[in-house]
Amino acid sequence: METFYLFILLSSNLLTFFISTTFYSSCSLNSTGKITPVNATATQPPPDAGNIQRTSDLPPEFLAFTSPQPLPFGMNSNFDSDKLYPPVGSPCTLFHELKDFMSYTVNGSCPDDELLAQKLLLKGCEPLPRRRCRPPTPPEYVEPYPIPQSYWSTPSDSSVVWTAYTCKNYSCLINRKHNQKGFDDCKDCFDLAGREKTRWVEGKGGIDFGIDEVLAVKKRGTIRIGLDIGGGVGTFAVRMKERNITIITTSMNLNGPFNSFIASRGVVPMYISVSQRLPFFDNTLDIVHSMHVLSNWIPTTLLHFLFFDIYRVLRPGGLFWLDRFFCVGEELEGVYVPLLISVGFNKVKWVVGKKLDRGPELREMYLSALLEKPLANSW
Ligand SMILES: *[C@@H]1O[C@H](CO)[C@@H](O)[C@H](O)[C@H]1NC(C)=O
Ligand SMILES: *[C@@H]1O[C@H](CO)[C@@H](O)[C@H](O)[C@H]1NC(C)=O
Ligand SMILES: *[C@@H]1O[C@H](CO)[C@@H](O)[C@H](O)[C@H]1NC(C)=O
Ligand SMILES: *[C@@H]1O[C@H](CO)[C@@H](O)[C@H](O)[C@H]1NC(C)=O
Ligand SMILES: *[C@@H]1O[C@H](CO)[C@@H](O)[C@H](O)[C@H]1NC(C)=O
Repeated sequence: METFYLFILLSSNLLTFFISTTFYSSCSLNSTGKITPVNATATQPPPDAGNIQRTSDLPPEFLAFTSPQPLPFGMNSNFDSDKLYPPVGSPCTLFHELKDFMSYTVNGSCPDDELLAQKLLLKGCEPLPRRRCRPPTPPEYVEPYPIPQSYWSTPSDSSVVWTAYTCKNYSCLINRKHNQKGFDDCKDCFDLAGREKTRWVEGKGGIDFGIDEVLAVKKRGTIRIGLDIGGGVGTFAVRMKERNITIITTSMNLNGPFNSFIASRGVVPMYISVSQRLPFFDNTLDIVHSMHVLSNWIPTTLLHFLFFDIYRVLRPGGLFWLDRFFCVGEELEGVYVPLLISVGFNKVKWVVGKKLDRGPELREMYLSALLEKPLANSW
């Protein structure tokens, strides 16, 4: 496992090295705005590049984006370089979907390919390469409701491009908990008159803390900005906005227009996966919340990196509200509690509960914890 991981790292570094130094240093933008890779077929990929696509097979528009770009004013001491290398996720070149994603007419319309793009991103091609095309927009776009009406109103169906989803309108999404079988992430979340209405309003005791109970841990007004990781339809952010607290909500669009919906409500969606380094500077956020998403489906090593990243972006004294972390039986004490504790948070609240909805024999567990980043370095 570790060897494999090392190999991926090594080989992707190798590839970046090759792309940047050998093959594509002379890509040029020609007069029609199209990209002509020069020398692209002149050399073979390194023999030890494993399953990496031959670089000559990489889409020209991908190479146009990722090739080193000389800085117009030359050497820049902030960059310590005279060129920059526009970034994409290092695994991008491993996936054949890249070809489809990067084939479009420059200055034209992008293909309606949200599902393909999301699969590519979730596998690790994150950030996705930029594209020089215009995304599809709803044919009869309707502007959002004004705030505060927008917080709790179902937006117009015409605010969404529905292609990627099973449902083609919001009433279908609202009703799918009754009439659709099978797993859908956050199945009842689009129903703002249902369970969403009461989430976090009051602590229900046990593993469900209330927002005001959590905020009361700190001096009034000192929790001001934060992040909700995997925040569904943005209800946490809306609740916090009602308390004048600004929360950014990360979400994928797993069989539902989560990002569009969050934005329509009037809070900020951010389209990054749990793998991506959090795009915030060290010691800046007052609170990070996450419900249900940080759980045992995430590879343990990745979770370790993620907990450290949350620690990094929280300011000293900042709160990490781990809401309904989910795992099975002895995994909790054996794996996840030590993992979490080792990062260095202080425990403020810590509640373990049994998850019984699919039967006690599955021994499913929840942990809800309120953790604080120490004010002084604890190591
Ligand atoms: C620009 O690119 C197009 C398409 O790749 C090509 O047909 C044309 O010859 C190129 N023009 C120049 C000046 O390189
Ligand atoms: C790329 O092409 C240029 C001009 O055709 C040539 O001078 C140069 O040596 C080539 N570079 C490689 C790495 O083949
Ligand atoms: C780019 O597309 C726009 C809209 O179709 C068009 O007006 C414009 O002329 C195009 N620009 C170029 C350089 O082709
Ligand atoms: C919404 O979608 C459902 C299922 O696709 C369909 O039966 C229904 O007529 C649609 N409702 C509206 C208001 O468009
Ligand atoms: C939010 O801020 C507004 C404007 O400063 C203020 O009037 C309101 O009372 C605040 N609400 C809360 C819940 O603090």
